[in-house]
Amino acid sequence: MPSPDYAPLLDAGEKLSRDALAALQLERLKATLEHAYENAPHYRRAFDAAGVAPGDLQSLDDLKRFPFTTKTDLREHYPFGFFAVPRERVARVHASSGTTGKPTVVGYTKRDIETWSALVARSIRAAGGRPGMKVHVSYGYGLFTGGLGAHYGAEALGCTVIPMSGGQTEKQVQLIRDFEPDIIMVTPSYMLAILDEFRREGIDPRESSLKIGIFGAEPWTEAMRREIEDAFAIDAVDIYGLSEVIGPGVANECVETKDGLTIWEDHFYPEIIDPETDEVLPEGELGELVFTSLTKEAMPIIRYRTRDLTRLLPGTARRMRRMEKIAGRCDDMLIIRGVNVFPSQVEEQILKVPALAPHYVLEVMRPDRMDELKVIVERRTDAEDADAAARELKRHIKNIIGIAAEVEIANAGSVARSAGKAQRIKDLRT
Ligand code: DLL
Repeated sequence: MPSPDYAPLLDAGEKLSRDALAALQLERLKATLEHAYENAPHYRRAFDAAGVAPGDLQSLDDLKRFPFTTKTDLREHYPFGFFAVPRERVARVHASSGTTGKPTVVGYTKRDIETWSALVARSIRAAGGRPGMKVHVSYGYGLFTGGLGAHYGAEALGCTVIPMSGGQTEKQVQLIRDFEPDIIMVTPSYMLAILDEFRREGIDPRESSLKIGIFGAEPWTEAMRREIEDAFAIDAVDIYGLSEVIGPGVANECVETKDGLTIWEDHFYPEIIDPETDEVLPEGELGELVFTSLTKEAMPIIRYRTRDLTRLLPGTARRMRRMEKIAGRCDDMLIIRGVNVFPSQVEEQILKVPALAPHYVLEVMRPDRMDELKVIVERRTDAEDADAAARELKRHIKNIIGIAAEVEIANAGSVARSAGKAQRIKDLRT
């Protein structure tokens, strides 16, 4: 339940009881299935092929009878084939690049942009943001949903937006010093690059005006949260989203609990499935997150397979359910001698070693038929014994994750930085 002084700040959707929320979800879900079936040829074909029609949905539970949607489905309709409104009603498009081939294009009506902005505003407020605060946006502006999504949300909340975008790290630091923002919105890995720059210039990051960081667009760990919170003396809060579903602001952590991300369930219906069997899993079990949009006009999305792994949890700071911090993506899971490993697990072990910095890349090789892992990680500038640090990390990885990894200690600043999402895996398998 929201704490008494916090409750008045919540919007109408956030205040719904569980029963009222379920009723609203059902009503919106019916309308969404109808809209998709009537107006998006892909859904008509997919529903027909699965032998289901929108009228078959009588309860939320019936959703599992409907077919999934995948990134491949979107790619096959490149660029605008997934839109369920005439192109003239599409006010904006975004696209996500992906690793191969054509980008995935998504579209928004004017109302979709308003919904999205309101949800990012809700997210910023959940993170502790308030009207009148200054928000420095370092997510990239452009086809990526991060920059413009954060921007419109901060404006909708009544904040002063500083649309810095990603890159130009020295200028980021200069503007943070001169404009004195309260909030920064940026990928956690780029926040570390900004931190390096503060230190390089001999400026104490704890003295900056920043109070809150809203970090997302890539997996990050509790250990990384502590690292960033200590370095800047801020609250670091997690924001989740994906372009296919809307962009940032599908779920956000509440600053008063920092215990996973509240899913804005009045607009997105979550399910967790077993990625192998496609079965819907009960609340609390780890699996692939699947989303159905409940209010989108331009591009309703039905049972979209995110490839992200997490579990659903009951609400705490809000009545809406939470999702655990994303463990990783199915695509990023490495199988090292039969053990499933995510980069985030290695990150946690790295941050246990005081001499090591959270700048790392994982190289995967397959010299024979088995995958081998090499962790290349920077040492901190003041670290003395690199060999001891390597041995310590190897030991933690062996003891906690259960695999033998090679560890290479790199000099400070030598692992490539990214101004957006970090590339953690270098796949050298043929
Ligand atoms: O990354 C939207 C976004 C922008 C979210 C800014 C948060 C902040 P895409 O480029 O479509 O959209 O990438 C979506 O990024 O499926 C996850 O794998 C990953 N991701 C996003 N947020 C988180 C997070 C944006 N908080 C993909 N934790 C998703 C872990 C995240 N992974």
